[in-house]
Amino acid sequence: MQSTDLAAAIRNHRPGHALSRDFYADPAIFEHDMERMLLRHWFCAGHISSLPRSGDYLVVDLGEESVIIVRNADGEVRALLNVCRHRGSRLLAGRAGKAQSARLTCPYHAWSYDLDGYLLVARQMPDTFQRASASLKSLPVRVMQGLIFTTFAKNPLDLGAAERALANSAGVHGWAAAKEAHRELYSIKANWKLAVENYMECYHCTPAHPEFAKRHVYARPPEQSEALERDGRTRAEALGIVIPDIDRYGLRSGVHSESVAVMRSALHEGVASATDDGRSVARLMGAFPASDGNSTYFDIGPVSDFLAYPDHGVIYRFIPRSVDHTEMEVIWLVHQDAVDGEDYDLERLTWLWKTTSAEDKKIVEMNQAGVNSRFYAPGPYSLQESYAGQFVDWYLAELAAPAGG
Ligand code: FES
Ligand SMILES: [Fe+2]
Repeated sequence: MQSTDLAAAIRNHRPGHALSRDFYADPAIFEHDMERMLLRHWFCAGHISSLPRSGDYLVVDLGEESVIIVRNADGEVRALLNVCRHRGSRLLAGRAGKAQSARLTCPYHAWSYDLDGYLLVARQMPDTFQRASASLKSLPVRVMQGLIFTTFAKNPLDLGAAERALANSAGVHGWAAAKEAHRELYSIKANWKLAVENYMECYHCTPAHPEFAKRHVYARPPEQSEALERDGRTRAEALGIVIPDIDRYGLRSGVHSESVAVMRSALHEGVASATDDGRSVARLMGAFPASDGNSTYFDIGPVSDFLAYPDHGVIYRFIPRSVDHTEMEVIWLVHQDAVDGEDYDLERLTWLWKTTSAEDKKIVEMNQAGVNSRFYAPGPYSLQESYAGQFVDWYLAELAAPAGG
């Protein structure tokens, strides 16, 4: 496909409508997505419970970039670029593991680094070689309420608002004292924006997710959900649960601050958690003395989304890989003291979001296949897709803004 004139594509966008084909199919626009949006924002790399000891690491990717998130000898979390300083090989493959002898050793010529990225061993180098100048490059990393965030930005967006929003959402849900119970990776043959837009709207929930729709009031159009949402707020107040909503993308492009959103929504009457039978599946977390029959959705930046119930949590990591390939990692959290098989049943815990994610993979891939058609013309968003519309507006504003940061 010909590379697109970005400014013209942005100019031609019809407000309130889906994006045109090039935004989902042109590799040149994907490069702009990387430079102007994805590499500028923070993204969630996972939960701190997956790095209990020094040497434990995660490998997280974004486009063609790859980062090692590792716990160093002092117990601190570091983010190091997964690119050897010799001739550039990836140091680690796979998604997680433990560094042997507290070293990160390149599989190519065995340059070996410590857990802070300092080069310790490089054989047969000339006398003039300075090891100190060949440390692995590091990225900023922040752990907030147990969630690990990193960014490729040289001048990272301010995380003050994100920190406060997470304290009032993940914090209330006890995520700093949670543990990872399961993770699942979905490979989606679609552009990342189709996957994120799909996550942002629940217009599709009733037709595509009968299991979700039966349990979550959010699947209903606003005029049908008002009374049920009010009941949910009353239940939360009665239990002293306070999680204020923050408007999606309230922090717009042009503000040097990471975007945040928090939204609570009720579960249906008698539903305590997102399970097959509606009963709780694990011990209650955080500030919850009982289930208040609500769910909490929160988002940080463009590709990190979270969903909390009183007894478990779900991290959604969207991982754009190329113009037509996105990975979606789903991580389930429970109370850190909960024991698999005793306090919770893994199959019951993961049932709803495994089912829903498999459905989403299918519909998003169908969406991409249709959008690839030369006959596709962007249609208008419904009233129940306002967040997807806001996401697209925000995306276009980010792309239109001068690159940098
Ligand atoms: S590329 Fe890593 S040691 Fe040569
Ligand atoms: Fe969905």
